[in-house]
Amino acid sequence: MIKEPLHVLQQLRQQGDYSGLFSEIELDVSIEQYSRGIEYYQEQLKKIGFEGMDNLLDAGCGPGQWSIAALNSNSKIYGIDPTEGYIEIAQTVASRCGFPRERICFQVGSVEKIGYPDNSFDGLFCYGVLMFTDYKAALGEFFRVLKPGGKLYILASDLGWYLYYFLGKGLFKLNFDQMRLGAGVIINTFRFRKKPFRATQKFFFIRASEIIKNLQTQGFEKISREVDIKDSYSRSRYLGMTAVYEILCSKPLR
Ligand SMILES: C[S@@+](CC[C@H](N)C(=O)[O-])C[C@H]1O[C@@H](n2cnc3c(N)ncnc32)[C@H](O)[C@@H]1O
Repeated sequence: MIKEPLHVLQQLRQQGDYSGLFSEIELDVSIEQYSRGIEYYQEQLKKIGFEGMDNLLDAGCGPGQWSIAALNSNSKIYGIDPTEGYIEIAQTVASRCGFPRERICFQVGSVEKIGYPDNSFDGLFCYGVLMFTDYKAALGEFFRVLKPGGKLYILASDLGWYLYYFLGKGLFKLNFDQMRLGAGVIINTFRFRKKPFRATQKFFFIRASEIIKNLQTQGFEKISREVDIKDSYSRSRYLGMTAVYEILCSKPLR
């Protein structure tokens, strides 16, 4: 019998064995993500036309819920993420649910240097990841590994999201952890803009306009923000500023 992904994770939780690569926090985050049900993710992927593809890359796949959802209507899915714990969780879910290895593959990897050849993928999905990366290098890699005509979906957060943490979730509720998080990201971003990217300076916001400019520089076309598959917790705007945005675009056919 094929097991439900959430059931697999709940079993791991009951076993309470954290001697492998994943931590208790990573398992809890994974349970939260999978609790929405795989059908929810399948619906969202359908809305952006991520179906009927031969090869799809989930870049920064976390515990793999989008990858597993994509299996339903695409042939082969590759998930990469530098967090070994998430990759172990994703691999465990896929194998215990009985998904064939020839159709789903999770590997430790990062978006700045994707370990796949040029023109490999029909679709590349990148949900909530670029804020932790050297995004210009990542966009170059996305262009390289997509096939001509391949589709790219990106969700990322802009200044409004961290103002929301600082004010809406932090100051107005006297929650100092949230305030610190919001302020930390904003300060980090301004520091990052002054200096070249360093691996230690992770987590900053990226202006939507900046991403679009860089997508154009890379050669992407049909760049559109007319898409909305983000989760219900993610507001699009805060205090009139972009908070979370989504972009869909393609690599030209030639
Ligand atoms: C907010 S989580 C989103 C995970 C997943 N896409 C989802 O929707 O649940 C951010 C993910 O980005 C991953 N990440 C951080 N730096 C990365 C990098 N350089 N390349 C690829 N993924 C990265 C983290 O390990 C984490 O899994």
